[in-house]
Amino acid sequence: MPPSLALIQRAVARSMKLRTRDKPEHGAYHVDAASMRKRLACIVRYVDPSSRVLCVGDDDLTSMCLHFLGYRQVTVVDFDLELLDVIERASAGTVRVVSFDLRAVYQSHFPKLRSDFDFFVTDPPYGKDGLRVFAGVGLAALRRGGAGIVVMPSQRVRGSSVGDPLELCRMLQSFLTANGAAAVEIQPDAQHSYHGTVSSLLVLRKTGRAPVRFTSLDGPRSFY
Ligand SMILES: C[S@@+](CC[C@H](N)C(=O)[O-])C[C@H]1O[C@@H](n2cnc3c(N)ncnc32)[C@H](O)[C@@H]1O
Repeated sequence: MPPSLALIQRAVARSMKLRTRDKPEHGAYHVDAASMRKRLACIVRYVDPSSRVLCVGDDDLTSMCLHFLGYRQVTVVDFDLELLDVIERASAGTVRVVSFDLRAVYQSHFPKLRSDFDFFVTDPPYGKDGLRVFAGVGLAALRRGGAGIVVMPSQRVRGSSVGDPLELCRMLQSFLTANGAAAVEIQPDAQHSYHGTVSSLLVLRKTGRAPVRFTSLDGPRSFY
């Protein structure tokens, strides 16, 4: 049986105390506690604590929430060493951390990850390429039939550099479809950052085994 809402609430509250500061230079603005509860409630419907879960970028500490809920096969890939240190210490090394700058995908370098994850979750940078690279790295790590969540922008925020959300979602979904993923659920406007960003949860499933192709990327200036 999936963990109760009360357990999820407790796990989110514990993880919030561990968070590092917002880092605009990394495109990282934390979402609020209500958003995390929705994110976790969604994840636990798809995978149980024995599953392999990958977090592609994790300033919101989804990994720690899962750890507190008893998930023991969680991996995080991120380039923020402060964040990775917090996760390693707080989980006593149970959450596996992989330090990697995902812009290396432009040089066809990829993080060393298994390809049999049951689930991935990512709240990527909202540049055209950031969205595709983070989602693509998650998708590549999934087993066939595995599922994933991509947090994608849904509303334009005044003063933000984020492009037209509809166009970004169209482009992300066309990239995912081209790489063998099927969208199976959308929770509109389910994620709110303290900064004012509003985003939706897109849940997908991997339908094939073909390698993810990143050939449609625009270039580093489209990452953030
Ligand atoms: C991109 S941020 C969250 C963005 C969110 N969409 C927002 O609007 O605030 C998520 C995580 O990605 C990580 N990240 C950002 N750029 C990265 C890169 N080039 N390689 C690896 N991780 C990166 C950050 O450290 C952070 O933990």
